[in-house]
Amino acid sequence: MEAAIFDDLTALGDATRSRMLLLLERHELTVGELCSILRLPQSTVSRHLKTLADAGWVSSRRDGTSRFYTLALDERDDQSRRLWTLLRDEVGGTSGADQDARRLKAVLAGRQSKSQEFFESAAGQWDKLRQDLFGRDSHFQAIPALLGGHWVVGDLGCGTGELTAVLAPFVKTVIAVDRSDDMLNAARRRLQDIANADIRKGELEALPIGDAELDAATLVLVLHHLSDPAAALREAARVLKPGGRLVVADMLPHDHEEYRQQMGHVWLGFAEDQMRRLCAAAGLDEVRIVPLGANRDAKGPALFVAGAIRK
Ligand SMILES: C[S@@+](CC[C@H](N)C(=O)[O-])C[C@H]1O[C@@H](n2cnc3c(N)ncnc32)[C@H](O)[C@@H]1O
Repeated sequence: MEAAIFDDLTALGDATRSRMLLLLERHELTVGELCSILRLPQSTVSRHLKTLADAGWVSSRRDGTSRFYTLALDERDDQSRRLWTLLRDEVGGTSGADQDARRLKAVLAGRQSKSQEFFESAAGQWDKLRQDLFGRDSHFQAIPALLGGHWVVGDLGCGTGELTAVLAPFVKTVIAVDRSDDMLNAARRRLQDIANADIRKGELEALPIGDAELDAATLVLVLHHLSDPAAALREAARVLKPGGRLVVADMLPHDHEEYRQQMGHVWLGFAEDQMRRLCAAAGLDEVRIVPLGANRDAKGPALFVAGAIRK
């Protein structure tokens, strides 16, 4: 009896394996699907699956050319089941598990879209044809036309100016602000032929923009770098006209602790209620937060977009 629980603890005592089991409890998944959800190479996923299968925690079945894995809970005794319940409650509440659940949805939707393509071949073919002819994001490039043509927009923390370049053709001026000389040089190169891009060096906590100068502003993938995101949101509110719109895009909570060292992240994502409090404290109203659908090609954490209006 004692030996059995030690074997179980060894098999389960690993963050990746427990996240894997959490997924496999909900759905039968292939190795490829697990790789895409957990953002891990196939060799790592296969190694962990073998450990779990050898310990009797995972079973598999063949379906045509695919093999599907699942949590083999029915074959476990009561003691193992209690252990799993305890572990599931702990791991299920982590931000890693939350990110996995979002990507699981995307993977399942991908399966669905394959069968939809098969059954509704006209619609399926049109999506593919549009992608082949015009690229993956062509229809999204039309969306900035919803902005007012007379608007002055701030791209706050503009980096290399990619978003400025997307917005500029649709509005009067884009004021692009960043503190980094390297980023600003790259932005100047990118934007050299775009006459209505006004590039300014400055701090997000003390913007080089006058009060109520902007009709709209963006803070895209920036807040997680700031020690005081509240100060940047207050500044964004100051430079917006009353009724002006702010768009914040950033990461949902995640557990990539290594990003602090690798990329200087201060915050490991933002929870929805945290974002609402920050916006409200900055004098922003009508806050709408939308988690973005997980992109199957992306390796990073899931994102959200928050839209808000300056009171
Ligand atoms: C991850 S990049 C994102 C750039 C761009 N928004 C994008 O989505 O491609 C973050 C940018 O914020 C800038 N940044 C970070 N802290 C800043 C601060 N306190 N004031 C001004 N810019 C800042 C960095 O220099 C960097 O260019």
